[in-house]
Amino acid sequence: MTARSFDIGMVGLGVMGRSLALNMADHGHAVAGYDKDVSKGQLLLTEGTGKPVGAAQSPAELAQLLRTPRAIMILVAPAPVVDYVINDFVPVLEEGDLLIDAGNSYFRDTDRRANALAGKGIRFFGMGVSGGESGARHGPSMMPGGPPESWERVRPILESVAAQVSGEPCVTYVGRGSAGHYVKTVHNGIEYGLMQLLAECYDLLKRGCQLSNHEIAQVFQGWNESELNSYLVEITARICTRRDDLADGDLVDRILDVSRQKGTGKWTSQEALDLGVPIPTIDVAVSLRNLSGDEQLRKAAHQVLRGPTPSPGIHRATFLPQLRNAYAAAMVLTYAQGMELLSHASKKYDYGLNLAEVARIWRGGCIIRAALLNDLRAAYQLQPALPNPVLDPTLAARLSAFQADLRAVVATAAGAGIPAPGLMASLVYYDSLRAGWLPANLIQAQRDYFGAHTYERTDRPGTFHTHWE
Ligand code: 6PG
Repeated sequence: MTARSFDIGMVGLGVMGRSLALNMADHGHAVAGYDKDVSKGQLLLTEGTGKPVGAAQSPAELAQLLRTPRAIMILVAPAPVVDYVINDFVPVLEEGDLLIDAGNSYFRDTDRRANALAGKGIRFFGMGVSGGESGARHGPSMMPGGPPESWERVRPILESVAAQVSGEPCVTYVGRGSAGHYVKTVHNGIEYGLMQLLAECYDLLKRGCQLSNHEIAQVFQGWNESELNSYLVEITARICTRRDDLADGDLVDRILDVSRQKGTGKWTSQEALDLGVPIPTIDVAVSLRNLSGDEQLRKAAHQVLRGPTPSPGIHRATFLPQLRNAYAAAMVLTYAQGMELLSHASKKYDYGLNLAEVARIWRGGCIIRAALLNDLRAAYQLQPALPNPVLDPTLAARLSAFQADLRAVVATAAGAGIPAPGLMASLVYYDSLRAGWLPANLIQAQRDYFGAHTYERTDRPGTFHTHWE
């Protein structure tokens, strides 16, 4: 290990950090790792035998090993651990060096860290990385953002390790400031929405149509072979037929019906509320995770609240194609909500996002990769300032063609007493957008009635107040 001979440093050698480091080494980039737990550095050396990897014993040693300006990627648990790592490294870094936080950090923390480090001449990237362990090892999607002048320093490394789709790497410089972590947060919000929609489809197939797990898997497999092709549909099909290792039967039937969360979906909803952007499918996905977690309340309500009990009344031959198209429509609407949020955030925070590029780098490596992203990319290439993908002629035509099936599925679910809030919220979003008129006039009148908040009229300019009583 010679001084200044390594291309990049990796701090945090857990499974994600090691996988990404080995991926970099596979592509000929010399990586030096550091972890407080020295056994993990040793593990990197063992797993990377024959590859250009090294392990440092301290931040100072890592700094010595790296060529300058240094590039150091941090893959540790989010706040406050990221702050501890930064504090450990600041004393051994020099002006122009680059720190990259590649964890799921809150974007406001990224802004805070970037500003504090800029005062010391150290550059800071917040980078979303998606794809889990296997993505990190074999090709993730990466969303780096921060000072543009540092992009070229890490570009060759990131482009070579990223997933590749049609010869294009699933990474690009996404924008200024905390753009990278913001884009990853919205990626996860979309992930929450899609997972909720697929869970509802599974429920409608299971309790509504009384299909076996094997039959359900076949339905999802069929979808995956169509334009609904996506990673989440693919793994859902696989999950449905996975046998249980610990007991008889299928594993999915023995998994507790409580969904946990680390918080990125919640951040997406909180942000959308702050920016005033409607993302109802994602909101409802977050709420339903919370509801699933309140087991006591659910048990109590199960005893006292009456309603239809799902019974085998659904005509499968009619319903299955409807459900497919309903998912297709809701899927477009979920991405549309996330993309609209990104377009508002780009203006508000001056990120300079290129949404065609965001769609492009989500086509491979990440959890929400899907054939649909080709259409979203094309939509933004055609109209870079598109306010919302539902206005793209191709996507608008698809939504218009599938809306009747979404409506039919929602009606069936409501009639059968099977909760389908994601599908319902998507339909409400669709109908509210297209309505041309909303009953918000009444809300304006009510506000003026009880609070003298004034209202606007349809027939003349200005604001008005009426003495209602
Ligand atoms: C990814 C995933 C990844 C992680 C989520 C899970 O893009 O690789 O989104 O970031 O699996 O953090 O989030 P929840 O625990 O909130 O479901």
